[in-house]
Amino acid sequence: MPTKSKDSNKFSAGSAWMGDRVIPIADASIPVTDWGLTRSDITYDVVPVRLGAFFRLDDYLDRFFVSMEKLSLNPKITKNEVKNALQNMVSVTELRDSYVSMVCSRGRPHIPGSRDPRDCINYFYAWCVPFIHVIKPEIAQKGATALISTSALRIPDTSVDPTVKNYHWGDFNKSLIEAKSKNFETAFLLDQKGNITEGPGFNIFAVKDNTVLTPNTGVLKGITRKTVLEIAEHLNLKTGVREISKTEFFETDEVFIATSAGGITPIVKVDDRIYSNGQIGAITKRIATTYLEWISEPKFRTEIDYSLAINTQ
Ligand SMILES: Cc1ncc(COP(=O)(O)O)c(C=O)c1O
Repeated sequence: MPTKSKDSNKFSAGSAWMGDRVIPIADASIPVTDWGLTRSDITYDVVPVRLGAFFRLDDYLDRFFVSMEKLSLNPKITKNEVKNALQNMVSVTELRDSYVSMVCSRGRPHIPGSRDPRDCINYFYAWCVPFIHVIKPEIAQKGATALISTSALRIPDTSVDPTVKNYHWGDFNKSLIEAKSKNFETAFLLDQKGNITEGPGFNIFAVKDNTVLTPNTGVLKGITRKTVLEIAEHLNLKTGVREISKTEFFETDEVFIATSAGGITPIVKVDDRIYSNGQIGAITKRIATTYLEWISEPKFRTEIDYSLAINTQ
């Protein structure tokens, strides 16, 4: 690849795939009448690019296509076409670590004024930016803090299916405002029965007596969550995927969160409860280290061909 200064790449802040072409992220927008915007009638997925490769790309694509099917969205695009779009889009940015979002919106009705979702032309687009961390790395390193939200419960899964990645973030944003105002880094949400669910952009884990616990319902089936459960098995730890009440949660030994946007982040304090004397728990550390190792495992990687970048500049 020819050497050029970072500034010479008009895509270095990110790029988008819209209408079958790659454009700089600053030029990417969707119409104000798109139902994705006016109705939150949209689904998306986020695959991380780490060290120049997509991590577990097929898992993310599979989840995205299931989400579209569950919402009766059909943008008439194949998995391979999505793969190519993502590959092209990331390649031109030259980003080796990137937050890559693929989106399908209900779009706009082809019959003006129609209120029938079936009249909408579903719209696929994608965008990518330099890697985003849900928790800033300098905070994640020492362990973050979380508040169990009292201002919002997780939207019931009978109303909005949390296994379909969505933009219904009213509950999350309310909880974040509460948590930040009380000097916590992030928030954990309970369901209507008082069980732990998930937080804004991550799944929640607890460790008790060498068993790695995570909620089974009311949550996105995170790909990082899946990876953590596989790592736990690999490390000969027991796993429990089941309901976790708030009371049980406070009796566990370690807590951490898992997301494609940052990997495994230890949580050292939840409300007033300090975990592992405010240090990163031993099992959390082993799982986080293994996750970083697995990022380099060829079987999980789809390498990006950055030579495409040359053709678009
Ligand atoms: C609500 C929610 N839960 C969990 C996750 C973690 O999922 P994944 O590991 O697939 O990124 C996310 C990720 O964005 C999320 O938004």
